Amino acid sequence: MLPLTEQHTRTPQKRFNLAENYALLNTNNHSSDEYIPIDEMKPHQDIMQMFRDAKQNNTYLKVQAPMVRYSKLAFRLLCLEYNCDVVYTPMMMADSFSKSQKARDSDFATHVHDKPLVVQFAANNPTDFSLACQYIAPFCDGIDINCGCPQPYVMKENLGAALVTQPQKIFDMVHEANNKFISGTFRPIGVKIRIHPDDDSLEFRKTIDLARQIEKAGASWVTVHGRTHKQRTKNTKVNPDGPKIVKQAYRSLSCIMETFFH
Ligand SMILES: Cc1cc2nc3c(=O)[nH]c(=O)nc-3n(C[C@H](O)[C@H](O)[C@H](O)COP(=O)(O)O)c2cc1C
Repeated sequence: MLPLTEQHTRTPQKRFNLAENYALLNTNNHSSDEYIPIDEMKPHQDIMQMFRDAKQNNTYLKVQAPMVRYSKLAFRLLCLEYNCDVVYTPMMMADSFSKSQKARDSDFATHVHDKPLVVQFAANNPTDFSLACQYIAPFCDGIDINCGCPQPYVMKENLGAALVTQPQKIFDMVHEANNKFISGTFRPIGVKIRIHPDDDSLEFRKTIDLARQIEKAGASWVTVHGRTHKQRTKNTKVNPDGPKIVKQAYRSLSCIMETFFH
């Protein structure tokens, strides 16, 4: 592991050009020397194998949670320095990411040491999500859909935790994105959820049904935040039983269980 040095504080912002499959490591003077073939820059890491190895060794992966405004490149490199196993980008909007080069440039930067990296999108339709996946695939090791964000401005757009009650929408996004990856560029897809708002019993039936749909669609892992969208950190303790029960029900699906420390 590299010490935290000037190299990190001066990390070049990377632009990318999907059509040419080259990364541009300096935004200012665009000479052809600054383009680095993506394959040379960044070998991909198999996150699912990491999950399997951890399970076999009876241990766990340390995963840095996605955080809007915070989990940008510098933060991720710092977390990796402190032995995180997997890092996440903040949630990015799949509709603008899939449509606008400007959005891609301002939302995303990476670096040769920025891995294993999961990129997280807010999305509510298969077209935006699968296009965003295809843009980002060369630069990441996994892709996540955020169906856990409870912020009103996100839910109003029918994104984030609004999708917990719309399993078919999640199914369609995961399924279509998986189908569109050609074998060489396949990246595993995860989904972050909250507890279903109707699950006030201890059985978490609807949350389990949701995980079942996600698994059927071909997702590789699910992250369970043990609160409903109405429950906030400030006034509701996380319910550790929700994630635990989902994990017991789904042994084949890798499961990141959050917030056990509260
Ligand atoms: C400032 C901030 C930004 C966050 N942004 C995201 C995000 O972009 N995507 C996401 O899935 N979760 C996001 N979260 C939620 C965290 O990933 C994590 O689920 C949550 O903080 C855990 O619950 P706790 O705050 O009660 O510990 C964010 C949380 C905070 C505090």
